This record gives sequence, C-alpha cells and structure tokens, in this order.
Amino acid sequence: MDTDALRELTFTDSKDQLRFITCGSVDDGKSTLIGRFLHDSKAIYEDQLQALARDSVKHGTTGDDIDFALLVDGLEAEREQGITIDVAYRFFTTPRRSFMVADTPGHEQYTRNMATGASNAQLAVILIDARKSVLVQTKRHSYICSLLGIRHVVVALNKMDLVDYRKEVFDRIVDDYVDFASNLGFTSIAAIPISARYGDNIIRLSRNTDWFHGPCLLDYLENIDIQSETAGLPFRFPVQWVNRPNLDFRGYAGTVVSGSIAVGDEIVIPASGRNSRVKQIVTYDGDLVRAEAGDAVTITLTDEIDIGRGDIIAKPTERPEVADQFAAHLIWMDQEPMVPGRSYALRIGTQSIASGSITAMKYRIDVNTGAHVAARTLSLNEIGFCNIATVQPAAFDAYEANRRTGSFIVIDRDTNRTVGAGMIAFPLRRAANIAWQPLSLGKKERAALKHQRPCIIWFTGFSGAGKSTIANLVDQKLFAMSYHTMLLDGDNLRHGLNRDLGFTESDRVENIRRVGEVAKLMADSGLLVICSFISPYKAERDMVRDLVDDGEFIEVFVDTPIGECVRRDPKGLYAKAKSGTIRNFTGIDAPYEAPSAPEIHLTTLNQQPERLADTVLNCLATRGIIVPANRTEN
Ligand code: ADX
Repeated sequence: MDTDALRELTFTDSKDQLRFITCGSVDDGKSTLIGRFLHDSKAIYEDQLQALARDSVKHGTTGDDIDFALLVDGLEAEREQGITIDVAYRFFTTPRRSFMVADTPGHEQYTRNMATGASNAQLAVILIDARKSVLVQTKRHSYICSLLGIRHVVVALNKMDLVDYRKEVFDRIVDDYVDFASNLGFTSIAAIPISARYGDNIIRLSRNTDWFHGPCLLDYLENIDIQSETAGLPFRFPVQWVNRPNLDFRGYAGTVVSGSIAVGDEIVIPASGRNSRVKQIVTYDGDLVRAEAGDAVTITLTDEIDIGRGDIIAKPTERPEVADQFAAHLIWMDQEPMVPGRSYALRIGTQSIASGSITAMKYRIDVNTGAHVAARTLSLNEIGFCNIATVQPAAFDAYEANRRTGSFIVIDRDTNRTVGAGMIAFPLRRAANIAWQPLSLGKKERAALKHQRPCIIWFTGFSGAGKSTIANLVDQKLFAMSYHTMLLDGDNLRHGLNRDLGFTESDRVENIRRVGEVAKLMADSGLLVICSFISPYKAERDMVRDLVDDGEFIEVFVDTPIGECVRRDPKGLYAKAKSGTIRNFTGIDAPYEAPSAPEIHLTTLNQQPERLADTVLNCLATRGIIVPANRTEN
C-alpha cells in the first residue's frame, strides 16, 4: 500500500484495540507469527485450513507441517520470490482486545513499507532470529519505529527451537538489543522467547522454556497499557473536502484527528488567520453536540470564510504552526537519490503543497550507531535531517506533538511516485518574518514601455550542440529588430554568479535554480531573456517554466546527437571527459534528459546555425511573441 492511500484510512484510539507492527528481516518469521495468531485465535475456517495444508505442500518450506507464512503472504508473486512486498493489515480479535497488525516486509529495499506500517502503530514486535542475533535490519527497523513515534517494543526471539530453547542464547541477544536500543526513547522493551512455527510462548507458555516465566506474547499484547496517543492533544480537524450540495449549505468534511470540538466553539483557520464559530456538527446518524478524536463529521460555521481541502480547523487558543520552512527527519524511499534544491510536491496531512525543496541537508543518520554523518543527499532507505522550504505556508505540528499533523510525504512531480516520508521537527521562522513587498510597477507596465511581450527562450542540449551559437544569433537578430533582450549563457554565468558551483547533480540543480530566478526577474523587467544551458534535468527546466506565466517559457531543444558533439568537441572537453581528466560530463558519464515536448525542436545535423536561428524567430512570431517584420518600420 502506498503512503498516500494510507492516509485515507482512519486509525482511532480505543482501549480495546491495539495496533502493532511486526518487523524483522527476511525469514525471521513475521508472516509465520501472524499466521499463528490468526490460526490460534480461530480466525481461520476449516476449509481454508485445508487449502493451506495443500499449499504448504506445494510451496512451503516446512515439510509436512502447515506453513503459516503462506496464509499471510497472499500473492503468488511474493510466494515465488519468498519475500513479502507490501504492507498488509490483518485483524484478529480475542475476548480481551482486538488487534490490527501491519505486516511489513523484511527485505532491506522495502523500508518505505515498514515506515508506512510504523506510522500507525502503537507497538512494535521486533522479530529476531535466535540463530542470527541483532542484524543491521533489526537496528534499522527499531530506529524507524522510534523515529515514527512508537514507544513500546516487544523483542520476539524467534526460532528458539533451532537453538534448543537455550536460555543463554536468549539472554545474550536480549542484552545486545537492549544495549543498542537504550537511547531510542522507548518507554518499554519486553523480550519473549518464541517459536512461531511450533507455537512456543505465543498464546500460552511453553514447557520447552521452563526458565521463562512469562507472560507469553498474546498475554502481553492483550494486557499492555498503551496511553491513548491523542488524549489531551489540541483540536485538529484537517478538511478532507468541502461539501456544498446547494447554496444554503457549506460544510467541511473530515475526521477529528485529535482533541474535541463542540457546537458554539470558536475556531480559526491558522493559515489565513480567519475566525468563526461552529454552527453544526453533522453526521450520517444525525447532528452531534460535540465531536471527538476519531469522529468523521461535517462541520458548518456561522460565517462564510474561505476554507479548502487541506486547511486545518483549530481553536484560536491552540493553533498549529504556520510556516513555509521547517526542519524535519526525512526517510528516502526511492531508487533515485534525493536532490537538494529540486522541486518536489509535498503532502502534509491533507494539504497538498505544489512545490517544496530540501534547502539544506544537515546530516544523515547512521541507523546502526545513531551517529550523525555529514551528507549532501539521501539514497534509498537512508534517513537524514534537513531543512525544507515550501512555496506556500503550511499548517502543521511537530511530529512529536502530533503524529497525524506532523508527518508528510514527498512526491516526485514527474512520476507521482512517493519518494520520501518525513517527520517535522520544528518550524523555521525566518521566512515567516519576510513579507512580500508590493511594488507599483510590474511586468505589464515595464513590458508595455518596451512595446514587447516578455518571455524566456530556453536553449537546452549537450555541450557543443550549438546552443550558444544559435542563441547568440537569435539575440543579434532580435536586437536588430529593436527588441530589448538579454542573453544568459552557462559558461559565462559560471564565471560570476555561479562560480561556486561544479557539475554534480545538486550543483546543476542549484545552477538552474539561480539562472531561472534571474531570468524571471529579467522577464519581469519586460525583457526577452535568452538562456543557453545544458540544463540536463527535466525537473529543473520545468521548475523555470513554472516561474513565469503560461506561454512565457519557450523551450528550445538543440538536438545534436552526442556522437556529433564528441566529433566537434569545440572546447576539447569531450576528449578530457573520455580520458577521465574531467568527471560528470554530460553525455559521457552524466545523464541528459531530452525534452519530451519542447516548444521548438531543432535537429541540427547538416543545418546552418543561421537557418536554425531563423526557425526560432519564425516560431516566436507564430506564438505572437514577436512581429515578423522589423519593428522600427511598423
Ligand atoms: S548545466 O548542466 O549546469 O546546465 P551549464 O550549461 O551551466 O551546465 O555549463 C555547461 C558548460 O560547462 C559546458 O558547455 C562546458 O563548457 C562546461 N563544462 C565543464 N565541465 C563540464 C561537465 N562536467 N559537464 C558539462 N559541461 C561542463
């Protein structure tokens, strides 16, 4: 399940329910344990049991015994791979409590699923294979559990049968674990020797471990006293949708994630600062006087104020933070490493933030030791601490104060994949103290004075593709036609504004970000801004596109095959790149993402630059940016 989809589920706190997560490495026996619970709590019907017995013979790894893992690992593909690849929620009930268990994959690659499961759990059962002791994954999973706010841990030392139920083995591993976990902030750590396969100490104490006096795992889970997480927290109601069936009714639908609210209470929308009062609390079963955490309701207000999906309704005395910069822990979940400065979409609770970026990587966390390690980026499964800036202010709480309103996910704007998940640590005030200064003269007035339509004409392509040559000709021709232009060229800007930048992915992202901002300012001053940069990444070209109004960004793809650029090698750089003297050279050992739908596509082989420049001018004329004839004659 995707982190996104998960947010649509509601997880309410109740004394009678315990939400827990099982974590462990591949083959530690998580699925077997859950299967054992389901089976022993009589959740399996007889016919399913028979099917399972047949399946076990077919796929199983347990000889003639029933392989409980098969009951849980539902998917054929997973069975064949022998690993579980997603979060599966299982429910079972005993006379004392009902349980919701997130079964998360143990394979190292699937940290994202593990984090998804952990973000909703109150307790973690950490499985350790008695033959293997505390592994890197055990530490990683414990660390993630701690980071995601889990405060109760049960170490289930599994496969005790394979170490002859020896007490020394149990004691040694538990000591190791407690040693490691002592500074992870867990309130309780219990340890139980089990065999999921044979049922030792799962639902009753086993004679095989007469040195262990209990409780058994189920007893422990049935009786552990977990303080309700949302008890005593301020009222938070993230609006999921605005319900407006007719002009007379305007309600805000969602689930109270914490606190409570009553009819007549004063409320505030923190992002806008607007106040009102609760008029009605509507549910399918009639109106309520008061709504509490977990209630799905529609709230109406006494005033018409502007509220949309993603806004948080709060009380004026207990406001969440509102800021466009915050510090956060970030778990990276994508194959492609995180790129500082790149624009990602964020979802904080139900708020969608179109663009946010990691402005500073503070450190990466070594999950084995908890040490802070200097880092510029995060790769798959890595966890770091960073500053994040968003284009618009968001309302949130610190994750420690409220798990629901303090967590966010990071989405790749191009593919829509969830690439990271984060926990907000604290807001950074700086941006909130800087207001936007309104100016009397804007782009419109400045452009009108110059009698032209400002735009950014953006040349992209390999080094040596001919970008600068064509851009230079376009500039000259426009100048001759009396247009006010400015030309920004990669090599030249790297002598000044960008002289601190090299050619790593994040330096190139920063290069284009700065150039984009400068080009935007120049367009605001009414100019036709011609830019010539390799700009190898689609995400950054799109970022510049988003800085200006529709139709003002003209992407010109100077399409020269890499072989031809290498042959021309005007600056001798390809030869150096090939010999390894310079690194990260685009087209040699660094990527180039060709535009998929550029406004102008120039194929340059066997073409004269002069003609290609004319093609650009013609396209600008077609788009109404310039008038074809010489303006001075008009
Ligand atoms: S970009 O990738 O960040 O957009 P930019 O257009 O500013 O690059 O600069 C590219 C110019 O820098 C090239 O035309 C070339 O002259 C020079 N250069 C030096 N090293 C490299 C490199 N490793 N990769 C690409 N260009 C390089």
